[in-house]
Amino acid sequence: MRAMVLDDFGGPEVLHMAEIERPAASPGNVIVQVAYAAVNPADWKAREGWLSRYFQYTFPFVVGFDSAGVIAEVGEGVEGLAVGDRVVTPGNQGLGERGSYAEFVRADAERVVKLPDHVSLSDAATLPTAGMTAWEATFDVGQAAPGKTVVVNGGAGGTGSFAIQLAKMAGASVATTCSAHNFDYVTRLGADHPIDYRQGNVYDSIREWAPNGVDLVVDTVGQGTFVDVVDVMKRGGIVAPIGTLIPDEPAIDPARAAAAGVSVIPTISQFPNQPRQLRALVDALAAGKISVPDQTVMPLAEAAEAHRLVQAGHVRGKILLVVDESLGQ
Ligand SMILES: NC(=O)c1ccc[n+]([C@@H]2O[C@H](COP(=O)([O-])OP(=O)(O)OC[C@H]3O[C@@H](n4cnc5c(N)ncnc54)[C@H](OP(=O)(O)O)[C@@H]3O)[C@@H](O)[C@H]2O)c1
Repeated sequence: MRAMVLDDFGGPEVLHMAEIERPAASPGNVIVQVAYAAVNPADWKAREGWLSRYFQYTFPFVVGFDSAGVIAEVGEGVEGLAVGDRVVTPGNQGLGERGSYAEFVRADAERVVKLPDHVSLSDAATLPTAGMTAWEATFDVGQAAPGKTVVVNGGAGGTGSFAIQLAKMAGASVATTCSAHNFDYVTRLGADHPIDYRQGNVYDSIREWAPNGVDLVVDTVGQGTFVDVVDVMKRGGIVAPIGTLIPDEPAIDPARAAAAGVSVIPTISQFPNQPRQLRALVDALAAGKISVPDQTVMPLAEAAEAHRLVQAGHVRGKILLVVDESLGQ
């Protein structure tokens, strides 16, 4: 099969197209023929070897968590999935297997969700990593609920685009940081109060918007950008900083959070929660309760350029790589 592979860790230039062996199904998993693969910041971190703490890489390695496509093979013992089903999955790259920048990817069946006919493969591909992590932060950790105030740091990114919408779906009011040129975008996603983090004092703007304090902060940016946020929160509030893997990142001072009565709960996507979250995201999209982030669509062969864009940190919504358009929308 065709795949964008790397033979060693390095910059975007190490990604190159190659013919490699197609994966085969084994008990409990399926092979998905990939139509679209979504690009996440974790992909460039995987390309640079940052995921070595989670699994041992085997070269040639294929990065990429998310994909949507059609089931090509079903392993022994798998129930409820059949060859030809249109599906979405975060795949098995998080387990150290080859990822989704390829014509075929292996995925444990429990993390493969069938798509209703009216949900397109390109829309579905945006859901797994960004959507499940936003779900984890907003609901599992953050307990968003009607009447609560939620601040999303980084609302124009993949994870932020979902966090805004999920918090609104929960009935919360939402403020979000982004560049001024993304105000229309985050407002379209439902944000009530966009804040330009490049101008003025972000915390003053939050204080004005939520004079009684904020209930939940979903921080998708990290890198020390929100370490003073406890000052604008209610006692009993929750901060969900999403794990960036960036070394030596300045973090909220635990003593200061404790004094403010705020819980800081480091948040990453959790394997056991992924099946429930992905099903819920597909259902919400199918029912029109959420929409998908803006998409920039590029050919698989341009994966290196996609990595340069994502690594620069200002993509709006998601980048999708087209692997096989003939599988349909
Ligand atoms: N461990 C996990 O389970 C997990 C899962 C998902 C994501 N993550 C991590 O979470 C982070 C975000 O992921 P993502 O997919 O959402 O990234 P992304 O889509 O690449 O985020 C890009 C967005 O970040 C915004 N941004 C950049 N600097 C900002 C700042 N200082 N303040 C506010 N917004 C800013 C940009 O908006 P503007 O252009 O308007 O500046 C841009 O739209 C990454 O580090 C990723 O690795 C971890």
